[in-house]
Amino acid sequence: MKYGFLPQSIPAYSSFEVVNALRAKHPDYTYKPAMLNPTNPRDRAQDWEEDVISQFAKNTTLTEYVGQRGTASGQAMFIARPIRLPNPACLQCHSTVDAAPPTMIEKYGPANGFGWKMNDTLGAQIVSVPMAVPLKRADDAFGVVMGSLTGVFVLIGVVLNLMLWKLVIQPVTKLSALADRVSLGERDAPRVPPAPKDEIGTLSESFARMRKSLVHAMLL
Ligand code: HEC
Repeated sequence: MKYGFLPQSIPAYSSFEVVNALRAKHPDYTYKPAMLNPTNPRDRAQDWEEDVISQFAKNTTLTEYVGQRGTASGQAMFIARPIRLPNPACLQCHSTVDAAPPTMIEKYGPANGFGWKMNDTLGAQIVSVPMAVPLKRADDAFGVVMGSLTGVFVLIGVVLNLMLWKLVIQPVTKLSALADRVSLGERDAPRVPPAPKDEIGTLSESFARMRKSLVHAMLL
C-alpha cells in the first residue's frame, strides 16, 4: 500500500470482481455496490438505483428492498441492502483527501468517494437476477405435474372400465341373453356357468334356481 494501492484489498472491489467472473457465464445476473458518490466511477448509481437508494435514505429502518424491473433481456428481480459506514475506521479512506493514503489518491484521484459520513445512506448493494430462468423452471415443473396427473387419470379410467366390463357387464350380458332364450321357451338353452361368489354369482345362482323351478312347473 506504501508504494502502490492494491484494490484487491478492498472488499467492495473484490466482490465486484468475483461476480464479474461469474457473469462471463451468466451475463443476466448482476451485483453492484451502487453509490451516489463512489470511489470507483463504475459503482455510480444509475437512475433506477438512485430510486432504490432514496428508499433507504427515506426509511432508515429498512434493511432490505425487493423489487422487479424490466431490462433489455426481460423482467429481472432485484434485492437491495443499504450501504452505511458501520465503523469509524472506514473514514480513513472515505472522509477527506488528506486523510486517505497517497497511493489511493494516485490511483483514484481526489474528486469522488470522499465526504462520506457515519450512518448516512451512501448507496445500496444490489443483486439482480433474471426472472426468465425461474419462470421457465416453474412452467416446466407445472407441465410435468399436469402431464403425469393426466396420465395417471387416463390409466385409472382405462383400468376401471376394463374391470367393469370384465367383472360386471360381460357376465350380466351373458345372463340376460340366457334369460331371453329361457323366456322364449327354449328348454335346451345352456346351463348358467358357475360364477364366483360375488353379487353377480348370487344373481346367476338365483337365475339357475328360478329356471329349474320354471321347468318343473312347465312339466307339471
Ligand atoms: C484503505 C482505504 C479504504 C478503507 C479503510 C475503506 N475503503 Fe472502501 N473503498 C476504498 C477504495 C479504494 C474503493 C474503490 C475500490 C474499487 O476500485 O472498486 C472503495 C470502495 C468502497 C465501496 C464501493 C463503492 C465505491 O465507492 O466505489 C464501498 C461500499 C466501500 N468502499 C465501503 C467501505 C466501508 C464500509 C469501509 C469500512 C469498513 C471501507 N470502505 C474502508 C478504500 C477504502
